[in-house]
Amino acid sequence: MENFRELALRRQSCRNFKEEPVAPELLRRCVETAALAPSGCNSQPWRFTIVTDAEKRAALSKIAQEIGLNAWSEKVPAFIVVSEIEEPKLMAKVMDHYHDAKRFAEGDVGMATAYLVLEAAEQGLATCIIGCFTNEEVIKLLGLPEGDTVRALIAVGYAADETIRPKQRKPLDEILKTL
Ligand SMILES: Cc1cc2nc3c(=O)[nH]c(=O)nc-3n(C[C@H](O)[C@H](O)[C@H](O)COP(=O)(O)O)c2cc1C
Repeated sequence: MENFRELALRRQSCRNFKEEPVAPELLRRCVETAALAPSGCNSQPWRFTIVTDAEKRAALSKIAQEIGLNAWSEKVPAFIVVSEIEEPKLMAKVMDHYHDAKRFAEGDVGMATAYLVLEAAEQGLATCIIGCFTNEEVIKLLGLPEGDTVRALIAVGYAADETIRPKQRKPLDEILKTL
């Protein structure tokens, strides 16, 4: 059985998708697992939007290409859009006294995103997190609350090429200090 390290090594950004659709229950499962991520005061400051409608997908892909990147996203069969929700009373009052809830929310949404893409990999799905887009355009297109901040468009589908690339990462010496 694949262990967590093997899954983390196998998860990679896919930019070449088959046109094959993804079963709705698999997309829902990815969101269910994302929602298991920890968050400050268990505030769960996230919203997920599954987009499979062809017109909306095409429009999202267009938004993702505004700076000349992400042309590959035209072939993606589904997107899961991850938003950080605006909710001033999200955190318990006692925490408000010490911390700005917003300081935690972005990291919390990042953790949920990581859970989501790893669950997708576990299910044999390929993903790519897209961070290049204009927030307001995505909010308008998907009819999301105006206070939301969209943090990621996650392309989800099946890889046309399943070759696993070696990870390009900084050496441990550069990022780890042990005292
Ligand atoms: C916040 C965020 C934004 C990203 N935006 C894009 C993007 O707009 N287009 C793209 O092709 N990849 C994007 N990526 C994917 C990264 O390039 C990729 O994760 C990184 O190069 C490491 O490669 P790997 O995911 O295959 O391990 C993004 C990743 C993250 C976490």
